Amino acid sequence: MTVRHFLDIDDLTADEVDQVLTLAGRPDLPRVLAGKGAALLFEKPSARTRHSMEVAVMELGGHPVTDTGELGTRESVEDLARVLHGYHGVIAARVFAHDKVARIAAVSQVPVVNMLSDDAHPLQALADVLTMQQEFGSLAGRHIVWSGDFSNVARSLAKAAGKTGMTMMAACPTGYGPTPADLAAMPWLSGTDDPHGAVEGADCVVTDAWYSMGQEAEADERRPVFRPYQLNAALLERARPSAIVMHCLPAHRGEEATDDVLDGPRSRIFPEAHNRLHTARAVLAFLLGVRP
Ligand code: CP
Ligand code: NVA
Repeated sequence: MTVRHFLDIDDLTADEVDQVLTLAGRPDLPRVLAGKGAALLFEKPSARTRHSMEVAVMELGGHPVTDTGELGTRESVEDLARVLHGYHGVIAARVFAHDKVARIAAVSQVPVVNMLSDDAHPLQALADVLTMQQEFGSLAGRHIVWSGDFSNVARSLAKAAGKTGMTMMAACPTGYGPTPADLAAMPWLSGTDDPHGAVEGADCVVTDAWYSMGQEAEADERRPVFRPYQLNAALLERARPSAIVMHCLPAHRGEEATDDVLDGPRSRIFPEAHNRLHTARAVLAFLLGVRP
């Protein structure tokens, strides 16, 4: 059987995304990692991803082995992957350059999961669409408005929106929005520089940090550029009463979103974070052959 990897949402068909979301609702999945290890490799810090993946591996009967540090310095990532697939039932990596996790997948004989790269955060996107499904029931026809930086999280969420029949508008400062290639590849995605106009049509308003891990040196330059895109009371006043707010976390409170929004009645940020466990368990089980 071909080894399945999960480097971004593109690795699943629309039907498979639906299957993973169904599996996420089943806490007692077959213990497909029983007697096996899971290598969790982190080049960048993590709270939600590390904890949810470790617990998910445990729930599937496996033993997580977490490592931190730059990959590809002590030995090539290909050599490391060829060693680790002899010990583990799955390899997962959080990397700077997306290419590194792709190179691991290219040689691994066990499933490889992208736990965030500079380009993509597919585990977050699955948790986000699960959170919307729990809120709205059906996802088809729902509209996501992204306000802020079109980050790794935004790009994977846009892909997941397409797989689940949703549309997405990205309100971003010039130079920080979807690329022409993103817009061409995802006809359900549109771009604007007007967050106030955009939120009026939203079922869900989402943001992320204005500067991602590895971009901290740009923080001072970015803050004033992104300020009009902040999720605050004035912006959310334009949204429908039923519109919810999400954020992958960690949040820079007072920057991309204010406390009253993050802690207010529209916010779903903690159910969203908790869904990371359910979707992590579901995607690992799916890659290892479990079907609803
Ligand atoms: N949302 C998310 O991936 O959080 P961590 O960086 O803490 O894993
Ligand atoms: N875009 C953020 C997401 C963190 C979960 C980053 O890459 O730092």
